[in-house]
Amino acid sequence: MAVFRKIGILTSGGDAPGMNACVKAVVNKALSMGIEVVGIIGGYAGLIKGELMPLTHNSVNNIVGMGGTFLYSSRCPEFMTEEGMQTAVETCKKNQIDALVCIGGDGTFRGATDMTFHGIPSIGLPGTIDNDVTATDYTIGLDTSINTTVQIIDNLRDTCESHARLNVVEVMGRGCGQIALYAAIASGAVAVAIPEVPFDEAAAIEKIRKLRNNGKRSMIVVVSEGVFNPDGTPYSETLAKKIAKETGVETKFMRTAHVVRGGKPTMRDRTTATQMAVKAVELLVEGKSNVVMCELDGEIVALDIAFALILDRMYKNKLKPGDLDKFTPEQIEEMKTLSAKRTAELQRLYKVATDVSF
Ligand code: F6P
Repeated sequence: MAVFRKIGILTSGGDAPGMNACVKAVVNKALSMGIEVVGIIGGYAGLIKGELMPLTHNSVNNIVGMGGTFLYSSRCPEFMTEEGMQTAVETCKKNQIDALVCIGGDGTFRGATDMTFHGIPSIGLPGTIDNDVTATDYTIGLDTSINTTVQIIDNLRDTCESHARLNVVEVMGRGCGQIALYAAIASGAVAVAIPEVPFDEAAAIEKIRKLRNNGKRSMIVVVSEGVFNPDGTPYSETLAKKIAKETGVETKFMRTAHVVRGGKPTMRDRTTATQMAVKAVELLVEGKSNVVMCELDGEIVALDIAFALILDRMYKNKLKPGDLDKFTPEQIEEMKTLSAKRTAELQRLYKVATDVSF
């Protein structure tokens, strides 16, 4: 068992509902094991600046149901430099921080692995609404953001029905179409466009024309923010204009944007966050680090961060020469299996979304 006196905790990158539940669970679990916890304000930037606050049971009272992150967050380019990293390590040493729990997405895990190699054992927790961490079935924040997205679309549906309109809704998710797919299924969209699957625009327009001719008054089309025109501008607005022009259906456009990143976390996000956080503290105390907590087939497991990051590249077809060199044939097989699982899941969801889109 590693002897830890103090764990530091930070949230980094885009915030996600459920991050506060992670913080509360880490604090309460660690304190119950006699380990102090210090909160790092504003992600890795706070680690560089030495902006810290001791956390007690009382400091995390009532935060389990709060949206955002009460530790604040940032994206920190300075941390990517050797100098920034050294300063962050110095902050840990000066404040007797023996280990770190880092909550965020891929960028956050790269930071956690760098800190581990610089002598501060670190563990990552997947907190991002995008569900784009290939190593895990689920990232904390997804459920809340989809529910918010669906609630927004339900409201649009009401007014579209009254006025016989179509609404194109651009949703968040960066390069991952999961929010769009779940939102499309749950809101009865007539079409969905995501970055991972080519979109048949002509077929979608033809279908909208037919549906209107058959008497359908309100229609929703969901487009992921990760779908772009060839010139790099968002495809969603272009599609809305084309639908209006080519079908004659009165068409409105809306971008949900950051509103789906706020709000009270759902039960799913609070409980997953709590379970992952508790396990992370237990693993650190057992002497494990440089792992990211994942949910695989309903189980909370820890996967090596290097494995998770290269798996992510494999899934996105972005492997660089030599990327797989340090992995065993068994690990490479495991990566291929997980990568294929993600592709299959996405295609299954896409099929469900299109099968019911009338
Ligand atoms: O990664 C979460 C996310 O909300 C993405 O869905 C979105 O593309 C991005 O962050 C927006 O980032 P920012 O908050 O920096 O505008």
